[in-house]
Amino acid sequence: MIGVIGDKELFSGDEIKKCYTLEELAGSALRCRRCGLRKGCRGVVFGKGNPQAGLMFIGEGPGAEEDKQGLPFVGAAGQLLDKIIAAAGYSPSDVYIANIVKCRPPGNRAPGREEADACRPWLIRQIELINPAVIVLLGSVALQHMVDPNGRITKMRGQWIEKEGIEWMSTYHPAALLRDETKKRPVWEDIKKVRDRYNEIVKSI
Ligand code: URA
Repeated sequence: MIGVIGDKELFSGDEIKKCYTLEELAGSALRCRRCGLRKGCRGVVFGKGNPQAGLMFIGEGPGAEEDKQGLPFVGAAGQLLDKIIAAAGYSPSDVYIANIVKCRPPGNRAPGREEADACRPWLIRQIELINPAVIVLLGSVALQHMVDPNGRITKMRGQWIEKEGIEWMSTYHPAALLRDETKKRPVWEDIKKVRDRYNEIVKSI
């Protein structure tokens, strides 16, 4: 039981699992009221990129610009992420990008545990439908909500984790790089590992 706001617009995890395409899932997410975030934002920022991408990036949640445009990572952090992806040799259409929560937390605060938990079934189904080989978690919020609630990004970044047949790596969030230039080098080291491993997987298929 998820809580009561209206009736049929309140999706259960089971209903979410019954979406069999990304378009269907995105359409259903527009009507989601599983948490209070939807009340305070303009729209649902579902994801962007190739629905069949082998490489997926997961951030924290939409900011003001993302909420306005309805797309993840289109602000300053997004422009930096685009550069990182391009430097690794990929185009935007090679990857898929989503967030832990699909609605903007007010004032760009980090999503709370209940909000992330409420949004998780959408993200899990999104991952199942895309079926990527490698997922990069951007920042501690993504790390803590997807891998280890007590995980420290400073300790866990750059390490491979195998889960559900997917290889996961966490690294610093691009917004952290904008605040602290010294994080650029470690991120590049992490992304090179991602690139090398992902290219190896692609070659072996
Ligand atoms: N930061 C995120 O984590 N996600 C976005 O979509 C934009 C900025």
